[in-house]
Amino acid sequence: MVCLGNICRSPIADGLLRRKVEENNLDTVVDSAGTAAYHVGEAPDPRMRATGKQFGTPIDFLRARQFEVADFDAFDIIYAMDKSNYNNILKLARNAADEAKVKMILNESNPGMDLEVPDPYYGGDQGFVDVYNMLDIATDKIVEKYLK
Ligand code: 4NP
Repeated sequence: MVCLGNICRSPIADGLLRRKVEENNLDTVVDSAGTAAYHVGEAPDPRMRATGKQFGTPIDFLRARQFEVADFDAFDIIYAMDKSNYNNILKLARNAADEAKVKMILNESNPGMDLEVPDPYYGGDQGFVDVYNMLDIATDKIVEKYLK
């Protein structure tokens, strides 16, 4: 799960999918990263942590890191939250196999539409709830489609 800062969108996507993997006893590694390094080592944004807690997905334990080329080797699917993240990840791809791993996460819930998870960082609390809800649906689809 990849966004810009790895403190808002990708940590909750990560936390949601991790929780669902555990609940379903699935053998899948889930992680998240940011394309930028501004927040490396930080816990998720307090507003995202509060929303996660409110709806049953605590993410206090996560720490931000930057996406790296080695992630293409470590993971089968790399989900971008928006088009900017998508393009920045693709710039690091070494070959067609790397490129093929990169997907827009909301295409799992809204196929072919290339919808973006809006960055909630500069907005109000409702933005965090909206992000949670869209990623809750998308991660349900990921579990159904790839992991069961
Ligand atoms: P995220 O949100 O990409 O969902 O983690 C952001 C967090 C921090 C910044 C931008 C977006 N920032 O500019 O510091």
